Formats: sequence, C-alpha cells, structure tokens
Amino acid sequence: MQTRKWKKVIGVVCIAGVLCGCDPLTVHKVTTTIFDGVPSMPPPEQFCRDYHEKKLQEERDELMSKGASAAKAIASEHPPYAEKKCDRCHDKAKESGLIVPKDKLCFVCHPDIIKKAMVHGPASVGGCLECHDPHTSQFPSLLKVEKRTLCASCHKEKRIAEGLHDKATAKGMLCTDCHDPHSGDAQYFLR
Ligand code: HEC
Ligand code: HEC
Ligand code: HEC
Ligand code: HEC
Ligand code: HEC
Repeated sequence: MQTRKWKKVIGVVCIAGVLCGCDPLTVHKVTTTIFDGVPSMPPPEQFCRDYHEKKLQEERDELMSKGASAAKAIASEHPPYAEKKCDRCHDKAKESGLIVPKDKLCFVCHPDIIKKAMVHGPASVGGCLECHDPHTSQFPSLLKVEKRTLCASCHKEKRIAEGLHDKATAKGMLCTDCHDPHSGDAQYFLR
C-alpha cells in the first residue's frame, strides 16, 4: 500500500519535473500526448530536452555576442579617463576646451615618446590622434583601427624595399614588428 502510494507520487513529480521549464506550446503538446494515450510524437522527455538544448544554445549565443562586443568595447582604456580625471586634459575655460592645444596635449604626460633621433612624421607634429583615441578603444593601445591595417591607411606609396616588405607581410609580420610607430635611433625607426 505504502509503496504504491509513493510510486504514484514519484510518477506525478516526474511528469511535473519533465514539464517544468517547457514553453506553453510544448507543455500543451506533451499533455495532449499523455492524455490521448497516443504517443504520435516523441516522448515528453525528449521534447523538454530538445527545448532546453535550444534555449541553452540561444542563451549561449546571446552571451557570446554580448561577451564579444563587451570585450571589443573595452580592449583599452586610457588610465586618466578610466580614473575620471577629465580635468587632467579638459579645461572649459580654454578656447580648445583642453588644458593645452591638441597637438601639445599628449606630450604633457608622454614627453619621451619622440625623444629618439629619428621621428615618425605624424608623431613629430603631435598628430597622436591620427592613430590613437584619447579615451577608450575597441583595439589595444588605444588605436583607432586594428594594428594590422593602421600603417597602410596612410602608406599607400610603393616601397623602395618592396621585396623585403612583401616577404615579411606574406609571413604575417606586422609593420610594428620592425618599425617603432613613434621614433627610433635607427633610420626608418627600425627596432
Ligand atoms: C588624456 C586626455 C583626456 C582625458 C583624460 C579625457 N579626455 Fe575627453 N577628449 C580628449 C581629447 C584630446 C578630445 C578631442 C578628441 C578629438 O578632437 O578628436 C576629447 C574629447 C572629448 C569630448 C568631445 C566628444 C568626443 O568624444 O570626441 C567629450 C565629451 C569628452 N572628451 C569628455 C571627457 C570626459 C567626461 C572625460 C573624463 C571621464 C574625459 N573626456 C577625459 C582628451 C581627454
Ligand atoms: C594626464 C596624463 C596623460 C595625458 C595628458 C595623456 N596620457 Fe596617455 N597615458 C597616461 C598614463 C598614466 C598611461 C598609463 C601608463 C603609460 O603607459 O605611460 C597612459 C597610457 C597611454 C597609452 C597606452 C595605453 C595602453 O592601453 O597600452 C597610449 C596609447 C596613450 N597613453 C596615448 C595618449 C595620447 C594619444 C594622448 C593625447 C591625446 C595621451 N596619451 C595623453 C597619461 C596621460
Ligand atoms: C602612426 C601611428 C601612431 C602615431 C602617430 C602615434 N602612435 Fe602611439 N602607438 C602606435 C602603435 C601602433 C602603438 C602600439 C605599439 C606596439 O604595439 O608596438 C602605439 C603605442 C603607444 C603607447 C603605448 C606605449 C608604447 O610606447 O608602445 C603610447 C604611450 C603612445 N603610443 C603614445 C603616443 C603619443 C603620445 C603620440 C603622439 C606624439 C603617438 N602615440 C602617436 C601608433 C601611433
Ligand atoms: C596618419 C598617417 C600615417 C600613418 C598612420 C603612418 N604613417 Fe608612416 N609616415 C607618415 C608621414 C606623413 C611620413 C613622413 C613623410 C614620408 O617620409 O613619407 C611617414 C614616414 C614614415 C617612415 C619613414 C619613411 C622615409 O622614407 O623616411 C616610415 C618607416 C614609416 N612612416 C612607417 C610607418 C609605420 C610602420 C606605420 C604604422 C605603425 C606608419 N608609418 C603609419 C604618415 C603616416
Ligand atoms: C621584417 C621587418 C619589416 C617589416 C615587417 C616591415 N618593414 Fe618597413 N622596412 C624594413 C627595413 C629593414 C627597411 C629599410 C630597407 C632599406 O634600408 O633598404 C624598411 C623600410 C621601410 C620604409 C622606408 C623605405 C621604403 O622601403 O619605402 C617604409 C616607409 C616602411 N619600411 C614601411 C613599412 C610598413 C608600412 C610596413 C608594414 C606593411 C613595414 N614597413 C613592415 C623592415 C620591415
């Protein structure tokens, strides 16, 4: 007597457990199947398993896309910006809105970046923002574009050392593997 009663309870719990978490449509299909007694469809367990798999996958996909875009958005952040020290750079009282004109601003905290003998054109004139964002970037080193495509955005001219460059890029090397983007002691700021 006792055992039969418990079997019944367990049976009910099992069905409830199986149904729990299914969407209304699935629950409807499952109960129809059970109450018709005609299992013309896959067993309820499978319905729910499939449903959960599908839902889990959707959640995973959503997380992945969020994760990917979140990671993208914060690939690099300028420390003074992250620390909300906005007035280290901004000054509303100044005409430029910055503590010093834009082409001088970065040298205030990065005075050594162009101290070497040979200086790269855009860096020499304080054109740091040609390549960098001042706040955050979806790329490392606050770069405005991916490092791989950065140099070619300005350097479209034919290389003198064309053979060497073709070989190096074919091997997947980056321009910055050999050249410093700011300045260097050797010609062409070779590292
Ligand atoms: C390292 C220096 C620096 C810091 C720190 C900094 N900014 Fe900026 N910000 C700049 C520069 C440079 C520009 C101009 C960008 C341009 O003209 O291309 C700028 C532009 C802006 C602009 C104009 C719109 C835009 O995004 O181009 C706003 C608004 C702004 N900053 C807000 C802030 C706030 C708020 C903070 C603090 C949380 C902050 N900045 C910290 C350097 C800085
Ligand atoms: C108020 C001081 C300050 C100013 C002004 C400033 N920086 Fe910085 N910057 C820092 C500090 C601090 C760091 C982190 C330490 C380091 O790399 O020197 C940093 C780091 C960086 C980095 C490396 C970021 C990374 O993720 O590796 C870049 C790139 C950079 N700054 C570019 C600039 C540019 C471009 C400007 C002008 C718009 C500028 N900085 C102006 C303080 C400043
Ligand atoms: C031609 C593009 C370009 C210009 C212009 C440029 N940078 Fe950079 N900068 C880069 C690249 C690329 C990196 C990443 C270096 C690497 O990964 O080897 C970088 C890295 C940095 C870093 C991180 C530390 C380091 O030395 O690698 C700082 C700080 C920095 N830049 C500041 C500046 C400042 C300040 C200016 C303006 C004087 C400037 N940059 C102008 C391309 C540029
Ligand atoms: C914003 C435009 C710009 C970007 C981006 C840029 N350059 Fe330049 N580059 C220049 C200018 C302007 C000169 C000076 C004019 C010249 O000599 O061609 C120059 C000069 C050079 C020179 C010296 C050429 C010579 O004959 O003396 C080298 C080497 C160089 N760049 C390498 C790079 C590398 C590596 C990158 C990527 C990290 C890069 N450049 C990104 C504008 C740019
Ligand atoms: C394997 C290392 C290496 C890589 C990677 C490399 N360079 Fe060079 N680059 C050199 C050397 C070495 C020279 C000097 C060649 C000479 O003196 O004949 C040079 C010279 C240059 C010059 C000046 C002379 C010329 O040939 O036009 C420029 C501009 C330049 N490189 C830009 C780039 C750019 C842009 C990239 C990325 C597409 C790049 N380099 C990638 C090693 C490299």
